[in-house]
Order: sequence, then structure tokens, then C-alpha cells
Amino acid sequence: MSPLISVAPMMDWTDRHCRYFMRLLSPGAVLYTEMVTAAAIEHGDAGRLLAYDPSEHPVVVQLGGSDPAQMAAAARRCSDAGYDEININVGCPSDRVQSGRFGACLMANPTVVADCYRAMQDVSRVPVTVKSRIGIDDNDSWDFLRRFVETVGNAGCRTFVVHARIAILDGLSPKENRTVPPLDYDRVARLKAEFPEFWIGLNGGLDDADVVARELERFDGVMIGRRAYHDPYFLAELEERFLSGRPAPNRRDVVEQMFPYVERELAAGERLNRITRHMLGLFANQPGARAWRRYLSENAHRAGAGTQILREALDALPQAA
Ligand SMILES: Cc1cc2nc3c(=O)[nH]c(=O)nc-3n(C[C@H](O)[C@H](O)[C@H](O)COP(=O)(O)O)c2cc1C
Repeated sequence: MSPLISVAPMMDWTDRHCRYFMRLLSPGAVLYTEMVTAAAIEHGDAGRLLAYDPSEHPVVVQLGGSDPAQMAAAARRCSDAGYDEININVGCPSDRVQSGRFGACLMANPTVVADCYRAMQDVSRVPVTVKSRIGIDDNDSWDFLRRFVETVGNAGCRTFVVHARIAILDGLSPKENRTVPPLDYDRVARLKAEFPEFWIGLNGGLDDADVVARELERFDGVMIGRRAYHDPYFLAELEERFLSGRPAPNRRDVVEQMFPYVERELAAGERLNRITRHMLGLFANQPGARAWRRYLSENAHRAGAGTQILREALDALPQAA
């Protein structure tokens, strides 16, 4: 698969409700799940963890783990579940993840990532790919990144999405690790120059369509995280400019298109605010943005809240929105 534009995996954010909503805004962007640990798939309710709506395709599941056998078992389930691609998390710096010895700390153990890749690809019908940083802690050099990609590439992996900053595993929170270490797009571009046969995607701080246009000149694709979540309409604009050319839809129509989904989910026992929390940014930078956000925040969690709340939130918007 060669996605041009993807939405990053984001824990607690890119759940299936979020992805369903984003898909309405962009038919073509590749959507990533939140990270799911291989251990959770082994010991938990795999069916629930891996559930998604068919409209989410193309959809990539991101797995966290470092035990090749366990990662392979998880990959097999993901492949059987119909995901389009399986991505290994080599970028997450949180303590919880480090104690499981996976995520960004795996950058220091490229052979473990290579072993996981092989075991996973062996049992998967779809590509297994890697999302990493450019380095970790003191390993902040081109050589370190090159060796990582070369080792995992020698195992057969062809697709790397790189968050263009190092992770500092001791001392910075996950949030700080997304802002404090400086971005270095050029180091990722050097990867593409050195390994032209690999598919290299750029991630980190991409929040402007002109910058996306510029970076697509030298990368195979770009991955957008926070901007896509806080201002999901950005995805509709990227779809129009870089993907199918489909004109960005009217925001109100997108809300209306959510109604059947919301009704189905409520009937299955879901609460309205679990879905609408991902829609709060839809009117970002538009007249009424605050009123929309406030109305949903104050009302969608109430017992029995249904699509009527969404309709009232729309009615509260100024005509211009
Ligand atoms: C709330 C949140 C949760 C995240 N969870 C994950 C995750 O589960 N797996 C992962 O690889 N990266 C995770 N990330 C990092 C993003 O995928 C992305 O690399 C990062 O936000 C930089 O891209 P951006 O500047 O476009 O947001 C998370 C980021 C945020 C903001």
C-alpha cells in the first residue's frame, strides 16, 4: 500500500468512532488505530480491541510489543481481521510502554525489531511496517538512524514512517516528547536518499497544507497527528488538494452523515459523548466553534443523550457556519 496522507496512531484519540468520523472527511487518507499491545490481544478481548467499521479502509492497526512470538500471534489476528497493514510501534516513549520494553526504546535494539518483523510478516497477508523516531536519548545521529533502518530493512521491511524528532526516555513526559526535541525533517529525507527503494513517510509537526505540499516532493507520504484531531476538517482540505480532489464537504452535512452511525452505536449501548468527543474540533476556526464545542461538552454525556443533542448543537451555530 502506498498511502500519500495518513492520520497518525494516537492513543485514546484514534479509536473506531474517531476513524469513522475522519473517513467521512477524507475517503482517501490512511487511518491508523491507537496502539494495541500484543499482550492485550493475547490476554484480552481481541474481538473488541480489533473491531472497526468496513468504511474505515484503508486502515492500519498499530501493534506494541517486543516478543516475536507474541507479536506474530497478534499480527495473525490483525491480518485475519482484515486490516490493510500492520505497523510496529517503535516511537512511543511512555513509561508504561518502556516497562514492557517496547515502543521507542526498541530503537536501541534493531535486531529485536527485525525479529518481530520477520515473525509477523511470515504469518500476515498484508505488509508489516514500522513507525519510529529519528533517535533516542544520546543516540541522536544519522548513523544511528541509518543502522536501525538498515537492520530492519535487511529483515525485509520496506515501509518506515518516521516521527522526525528523537525521544528522550528519561525526564520528558510523552507530551513533552512531542514538542521539546527539535524536528529534523532533513535527517528523514536523508533516509529516502540513502534507501530510495524503501517507502519513507514523514511525521511530526505537519500542520500546514503548503508544508505538506513541499514535503511530498521528497517523501512518499506524510502522516498527520494532532492537527488532524484538533481540526479534522483539515483532512477534507488535504483530500481535495492531494488525494481524490473531492471538494471539501459542508461541515453540517458531515454531522448529518454521522446520525445513522450514532444511532447504531447508541442502540448497541455506546454513550453519545464517546463519539462526539472526536467531533468537537469540526468547526475549528469557524464562526460558532466555541458554541459547538461547549454545547456538546455540556450535553453529550447526559444519560439518554442522542442525536437530538447533535441537532441542537447544529441549530446553535450561526447561519454562516
Ligand atoms: C494523544 C496522542 C497519542 C499518541 N499515541 C501514539 C500511539 O499510540 N502510537 C504511536 O506510534 N504514536 C502515538 N502518538 C504520536 C503520534 O502518532 C505522532 O507521531 C505525533 O503526534 C507527531 O505527529 P504530529 O506532530 O502530527 O502530531 C500519539 C500522539 C498523541 C498526541
